[in-house]
Amino acid sequence: MKINYIGHACISIQIDDIEILVDPFITGNPLIKNADITQFKPDYILITHAHQDHVLDVEKIAKQSDAQVISNAEIIGYYTNKGLKNLHAMNTGGSFDFPFGKVTSTIAFHSSSFADGSHGGNPNGYLIKTKEKQIYIAGDTALTHEMKLLPKLYGKIDWSILPIGGNFTMGAKEAVMAAEFLKCDKVFGYHFDTFPPIKINHEETKAIFTEKNIGLILPSIGESVEI
Ligand code: NI
Ligand code: MN
Repeated sequence: MKINYIGHACISIQIDDIEILVDPFITGNPLIKNADITQFKPDYILITHAHQDHVLDVEKIAKQSDAQVISNAEIIGYYTNKGLKNLHAMNTGGSFDFPFGKVTSTIAFHSSSFADGSHGGNPNGYLIKTKEKQIYIAGDTALTHEMKLLPKLYGKIDWSILPIGGNFTMGAKEAVMAAEFLKCDKVFGYHFDTFPPIKINHEETKAIFTEKNIGLILPSIGESVEI
């Protein structure tokens, strides 16, 4: 299983020969020079919420790849109206077995509307449980007590992908406590540095995690991590 950091909150997860693209925001990312999305051919596109910095490239990539789009009911309804056909609607608290593993839609405390003002439902995170590992993608969220339920209900979480940029979401201090709530000592940080309000001091961020003995990957754009 491999996590590739495409940038901001966009990651691609490789599980055997299946690729899941999460929150595609590539052409609008100021840190990605000469972004070319024509080569993206994922099998699935997983969307946490409707904000532009998570969905900008969904339509184009879904059309060119025929990837199945997985998200909440409102976001799936929005893309049904845009003409996409291969869709799977879920909602908070629900789980579904896909060919690559079980996906559970989790609680996120944030907001969710499209750039055109359409309602995007409630924001979510996702647990993905394969035969080998379980990962948690928090999505944009505040720290919440609900995170404590996840290992209790769904078992060991091997890796947590958590926002660490602050301002719109948790920052490092809250993300460390989230890792404690999740009983997970391996964090893959995301949603940082892309825009001025979420620029972080890398050394200070690493120190906050080290102090609590939580492992942190602060990925560079394009970096792949075998997990
Ligand atoms: Ni957001
Ligand atoms: Mn965001």
